[in-house]
Amino acid sequence: MNVLVTGGTGYIGSHTCLQMLEMGYTPVLLDNFSNSKASVLDRIEEVSGTRPVLITGDILDKNLLVETMKRYGISAVIHFAGLKSVGESVSEPLKYYSNNVSGTLCLVEAMSECNIKTLIFSSSATVYGDPSTVPINEGFPTSATNPYGRSKLMVEECLNDFYKANPDWSITLLRYFNPVGAHPSGKLGEDPNGIPNNLMPFISQVAVGKRECLNVFGGDYPTPDGTGVRDYIHVMDLARGHIAALNKVGHSKGIHIYNLGTGRGSSVLEMIEAFEKASNKKVAYKMVDRRPGDVAECWADPQKAQKELGWYAQLEVEQMAIDTWRWQSNNPNGYHD
Ligand code: WQD
Repeated sequence: MNVLVTGGTGYIGSHTCLQMLEMGYTPVLLDNFSNSKASVLDRIEEVSGTRPVLITGDILDKNLLVETMKRYGISAVIHFAGLKSVGESVSEPLKYYSNNVSGTLCLVEAMSECNIKTLIFSSSATVYGDPSTVPINEGFPTSATNPYGRSKLMVEECLNDFYKANPDWSITLLRYFNPVGAHPSGKLGEDPNGIPNNLMPFISQVAVGKRECLNVFGGDYPTPDGTGVRDYIHVMDLARGHIAALNKVGHSKGIHIYNLGTGRGSSVLEMIEAFEKASNKKVAYKMVDRRPGDVAECWADPQKAQKELGWYAQLEVEQMAIDTWRWQSNNPNGYHD
């Protein structure tokens, strides 16, 4: 089955592409390299022995999408392409609504024109806003606390309305918790542009000597050690979740919503400790004020995905740290341009 993977050279897209190749799918990647590098293709080929087709372009270019879908006989789409920095979305909201919302609408229009009716959308736990309790299940109320989260929520609502008017589609919304880790080969990993917004890449850049010191955003949360608690999920488990979705619901009409998380929470200090153990390096940090918009705790109830997709996260935080360190220490400056 030929599957269009938008944002396919990105962190989660590239790892999912490897899983797809392993499971006999044919990924066709489309990317504008706004937060990735084409050299990841060399790594995919090195690890899998296959070099997938890569189309350079933007999901807002509808003609390119239609031409690509027809040319490669696409049967389904996994849609990763999107901007994902909470901080940047506050300073540049229109950029987020244009790329994430208009971009998705353009993609769905192109799919309609090509009679492709299977879509898996990369959503996020951020659509749960500040949850009243944890763990979080798919029936929890949704809300947004920043333009990035609002763009994800808007896309989910657009897709819900679209499905009601087009009930012969299969649309799956995968709500990621906190993706971390790297392919065990050490050849692929997270390589964010500029200063990392997220915890794990920042920790690993401190450990490898690229950054001086980690700022721990808040030590006074109502959590066991006072620092924020999140559901960190290994990117390889996340990739497997996409294959499970493709296999299970790719052909069954409806809107399918799943949390992709481990169901376990880890604090910032626990992640630092796991990383120091994995890397045998000291991670310098200092306690600073809370980051605006952060919540104290957020972790998943992943039972629905386990029951309906037969999927559950298998890798623990220790493995996430080990695999991240192997990637970071082998690639101190990430992928080359
Ligand atoms: C995790 C914890 C921080 C950086 C966001 C998005 C979510 C998804 C993942 C895209 C928190 C603390 C972090 C640092 C720190 N993005 N932290 N120092 O905020 O849970 O989720 O990224 O899909 O949609 O909302 O992830 O990694 O930024 O933060 O202390 O330099 O680490 O306070 O407790 P977050 P994060």
